[in-house]
Amino acid sequence: MTRFAPGKPARSPKALMPTLSPLSPGATIGILGGGQLGRMTALAAAQLGYRSHIYCPEADAPATQVTSLTSIADYRDEAALADFAKAVDVVTYEFENVPFIAAETLARLVPVHPGPEVLRICQNRLREKDFCRSADVPTTRFAAVRGAQDLHDRVAEFGRPCVLKTAELGYDGKGQVAIERDTDLDAAWAKVAEAAATAGAVLESFVDFRLEISVIVARGLDGARQTYVPVENQHKNHILDQTIVPARVSEKVADKAEGIARHLAEEIGLAGLLAIEMFVTADSQVLVNEMAPRPHNSGHWTLDAAVTSQFEQLVRAIAGLPLGAPDRLTDAVMKNLLGEEAAAAQAAWSDPNEKLHLYGKVEARPGRKMGHTTKLIRR
Ligand SMILES: Nc1ncnc2c1ncn2[C@@H]1O[C@H](COP(=O)(O)OP(=O)(O)O)[C@@H](O)[C@H]1O
Ligand SMILES: [Mg+2]
Repeated sequence: MTRFAPGKPARSPKALMPTLSPLSPGATIGILGGGQLGRMTALAAAQLGYRSHIYCPEADAPATQVTSLTSIADYRDEAALADFAKAVDVVTYEFENVPFIAAETLARLVPVHPGPEVLRICQNRLREKDFCRSADVPTTRFAAVRGAQDLHDRVAEFGRPCVLKTAELGYDGKGQVAIERDTDLDAAWAKVAEAAATAGAVLESFVDFRLEISVIVARGLDGARQTYVPVENQHKNHILDQTIVPARVSEKVADKAEGIARHLAEEIGLAGLLAIEMFVTADSQVLVNEMAPRPHNSGHWTLDAAVTSQFEQLVRAIAGLPLGAPDRLTDAVMKNLLGEEAAAAQAAWSDPNEKLHLYGKVEARPGRKMGHTTKLIRR
């Protein structure tokens, strides 16, 4: 029998259903966030016989274009959240910067996977790194920084170069200041001070990595886990440019990276997907950089070159279905199309080894993720 902690509101009868019986065809997956990750999740859900209901603040977002069920509302709108909870059978998210309160509010009404606690950890770089430390997983050397003087003290301790980051809401390199040999520390602090006042900041020593990799791990409601092969990520201007599948690392490093991902999924109590970005050093250390509890840009290759795409895997995981095989069918290179690059990628339509995906965004702002191509390396 399900028991409730005193003082917690009772769950709706829907949430009392045994979690291990899979969602029936026609059930509705609620997705917080309207971007391309939500769009591709909704398409995968449709393929498995489910509906999707998108909740996001913006009208005509990429995900809302592929389903008729949408709630266009602020993430803190309690009435809209309650209506959304009534309309769906399970909730997931396609980006991790939804206010925690939204996930927490929904979790009282309907199953939310990954759970709000996973979101809370992944939303904050300090909590994320503390969590890795508690799970005995190596990360970059790091410390919380509470003010300009603290920054001076920590930089003296860590040595230069290092990187100052806001603890929350950073993405694609935003909210980061590189501290080089001649960087003025008071000026560096001033750049993050406002964001740090509410969420804190973290100093990391600079990792002279050989390459960056990521591993996506899925964990089902029954605790089964599957990992995708480690892939290699190349960034331009701090935004993912290309993903090379598989990563050019030794079998030993690949095993280590997959082992870390499986371990973190277990320790965090995951249901759904967790993407883990890691640095590989010249001496083959694998250090966790950051985690995202959702599909990941570096997993887009799985749409065309894996038995089960990361989006299908997410839906399977949270619907209580068995996980699919994550095996890679071919090697591949995924290239993000930013801004005007999408219009320039037309040749991909006629290349038998290339698949072009577009996200339905009209305005090609510089740096905006408009689509991607996956080049299949068939031997
Ligand atoms: N401590 C570090 N040492 C070396 N490079 C770093 C470090 N932290 C971040 N970077 C570089 O900046 C990129 C973006 O940083 P990341 O922490 O992943 O933030 P986000 O992806 O949220 O912007 C990383 O992929 C990496 O290339
Ligand atoms: Mg990153």
